[in-house]
Amino acid sequence: AQRRAVDEVLAPLRLSRDDLVKVQALMREEMERGLGKETNASASVRMLPTYVNHTPDGTEKGDFLALDLGGTNFRVLVVGWERSPQHCPTLGHAHHAHYPQLFDHIIDCIIDFQTKQNLVTQMLPLGFTFSFPCQQVGLDKALLLTWTKGFSASGCVGQDVVQLLRDAAKRKRVGNHLGMQVVALVNDTVGTMMACGYDDPKCEIGLIVGTGTNACYMEEMKNVGTVEGDQGRMCINMEWGAFGDNGCLDHIFTHFDTVVDETTINPGKQRFEKLISGMYLGEIVRQILLVMTEKELLFQGKPSPKLQTKDIFKTKVGVSEHQVRSQIRTIMNELELDASFEDCVLMREVCQTVSLRAAQLCAAGLAAVVEKMRENRGLDQLSVTVGVDGTLYKLHPCFSTNLQTTLKDLAPNCNVTFMLSEDGSGKGAALVAAVQCRKGCSPL
Ligand code: BG6
Ligand code: GLC
Repeated sequence: AQRRAVDEVLAPLRLSRDDLVKVQALMREEMERGLGKETNASASVRMLPTYVNHTPDGTEKGDFLALDLGGTNFRVLVVGWERSPQHCPTLGHAHHAHYPQLFDHIIDCIIDFQTKQNLVTQMLPLGFTFSFPCQQVGLDKALLLTWTKGFSASGCVGQDVVQLLRDAAKRKRVGNHLGMQVVALVNDTVGTMMACGYDDPKCEIGLIVGTGTNACYMEEMKNVGTVEGDQGRMCINMEWGAFGDNGCLDHIFTHFDTVVDETTINPGKQRFEKLISGMYLGEIVRQILLVMTEKELLFQGKPSPKLQTKDIFKTKVGVSEHQVRSQIRTIMNELELDASFEDCVLMREVCQTVSLRAAQLCAAGLAAVVEKMRENRGLDQLSVTVGVDGTLYKLHPCFSTNLQTTLKDLAPNCNVTFMLSEDGSGKGAALVAAVQCRKGCSPL
């Protein structure tokens, strides 16, 4: 009876192969709509042009500053090809700052970094990885469409983020500090694809599965209805986190997903992301555990006050699915949840179910992308590399295996290799800046 009751709770989270094939087809439809000149406005997948037309060719040179804002950490780094990249320590979270303080804070961090690295008297070009949806009009003009992932700095939506950074730099220019040249803004997916593309020319897709999730890929210009011109390719920032915001995925949302969505600062938005990324998985697990406790399937039906606390399961529970039960028990004790052996077994099953669904959905999205690329190029078989980053992908013990197995099944004619980004996406932003500087870039 216990088994049947558990299965009943988890059933809506278990997706069949048909479900995944349908998600793949829906993603493909939304991609086409997002790319279309007329249909673009109503598509949930925005398919944003990035103005990046080439993956790296290996001849990019020079020293660059790179800013990386929007993941777990905010980072400033210097990237050079004559020396290995240097990462500065995490510079604190900028999530809750307010405009213009957010940009002043970023400039303070850059100045501090340049001072420590003895880079004050050099005018270094800067590549900015900004991991939010932007309507780009060029490489260095990007209007913020909306914040995602819990960011909420006011006064930024609709503004050109590069200009906000340049304005803050002007406000802050001090002493002999020469300033900086903001040359290019890229999404983290694009930065990741470019960074991996430097080592592997077949890398034409970027994927992030971390705090948020998103993908980019090289699309044929003739298919990009939102930009003039038919020649060559352009990298498209899909912003697939918003897939389903128009209702097309309503059939797979469960009661738990709805509750989690309603408690975020952007209800109804980023629905696909809320099924997949690290910021939300712990909350889905917590909602399931609450229902299971209510049904007396867990903790002998005794509601624990800790379980009522939002975001209590940040990463610990997600990772725990692979750990031995004694470790899960230790984590539960730390969380002041009095878990028996049976409770731990069940909790592991819950975590597995939630993370398997996330990996499968991510695979369905990716299957739509690789299949489109294969068709675009008129190939029977496509061989392509995906550059990947993000804490969930990197740290979760089964996510990548589940993702790859499902992808193979859904896109059997595509031979897809996954390549982890070693130094984050900053190097990719610097590469884009390098190409731009080769064409001639002007200071501030
Ligand atoms: C980092 C990249 O390594 O991964 C960032 O440099 C990216 O640009 C991040 O946003 C994504 O992962 P997470 O888990 O930090 O959101
Ligand atoms: C969110 C952002 C997107 C970013 C992704 C991964 O979905 O909107 O721009 O790429 O998170 O960080």
